[in-house]
Amino acid sequence: MRKVAVLGAGLMGHGIAQVAARAAKCEVSLRDVRQEFLDNGMGMIRSSLQKFLDKGTISREEMNEILGRIYPTVNLREAVVDADLIIEAVPESVDIKRTVLMEVDGVAKKDAVMTSNTSSISITLLASFTRRPEKFCGMHFFNPPQLMRLVEVVKGTKTSDDTVNVVVEAAKKMGKEPVVVKKDSPGFIVNRVLVSALNEALYLVWEGVADRDEIDKAIRLGLNWPMGPLTLLDHVGLDTTLAILEVFQRELGELKYQPCPLLTQMVKTGLLGRKTGKGFYDWEKK
Ligand SMILES: NC(=O)c1ccc[n+]([C@@H]2O[C@H](COP(=O)([O-])OP(=O)(O)OC[C@H]3O[C@@H](n4cnc5c(N)ncnc54)[C@H](O)[C@@H]3O)[C@@H](O)[C@H]2O)c1
Repeated sequence: MRKVAVLGAGLMGHGIAQVAARAAKCEVSLRDVRQEFLDNGMGMIRSSLQKFLDKGTISREEMNEILGRIYPTVNLREAVVDADLIIEAVPESVDIKRTVLMEVDGVAKKDAVMTSNTSSISITLLASFTRRPEKFCGMHFFNPPQLMRLVEVVKGTKTSDDTVNVVVEAAKKMGKEPVVVKKDSPGFIVNRVLVSALNEALYLVWEGVADRDEIDKAIRLGLNWPMGPLTLLDHVGLDTTLAILEVFQRELGELKYQPCPLLTQMVKTGLLGRKTGKGFYDWEKK
């Protein structure tokens, strides 16, 4: 793996480009649709590297070398034409991903491996938009990619073992701990467990088993979570959590993943968490 192309310079894409340039020391092209989005992504990379510099984790020279390995571009062809590994991190929409993947498939090298950072869309479906489904797999990073060590490597129905091995090795080169998800299933591993746990915490409030602060404290101290589940719900967004549970219900089991009625009510009343200023906590005051 010499050159990596990252598509999308948003929240995830900029971080993925940064770890590919820093840990794996790859040449990285970072593509977005408008120059201002690229400028924003490069700005986030600079400020993240500055934090590592301030902490003494990297030197000024290393920071400049890392930045020198990242080429921002709005030109899709230029970004992917000589890439060995392509990581798609565009918005979570089947339509947008379909357009991007079809275009990339047409210009990328025949032997390039294509991956998607999708959290919820079927890898098999995304692979079907390309003429290389055996060379396509999920590469699911966690937010923020600069700090979170896990990468879920998700096999689609037609993904070859060779492709899985290439992506596992690529993740390791990026300083990550890959785990292989051998069956393409909604939520993969982490989000399936996490969202089920968040729903259970909602039921504890709904049934009056304990108050908000007690539930958050219990899980922080009892399970060593860095924050309680109700705080985490506010960060993830109650609407996003509900949408994921609805996908689980459709695809994995109507009853098993029934969203707690409190979640549905809170979403209806606009209590979505941090993004609307209020959820379980008042973020305007915080
Ligand atoms: N946000 C998270 O915590 C998180 C965690 C894991 C995985 N993901 C997944 O990562 C992907 C990206 O999410 P995000 O949070 O970074 O989104 P985001 O909205 O922050 O970034 C997406 C970027 O893609 C750009 N874009 C749109 N169309 C494009 C195109 N045709 N070519 C190139 N760039 C294009 C947008 O301009 C934007 O800058 C999604 O599939 C999401 O499910 C997100």
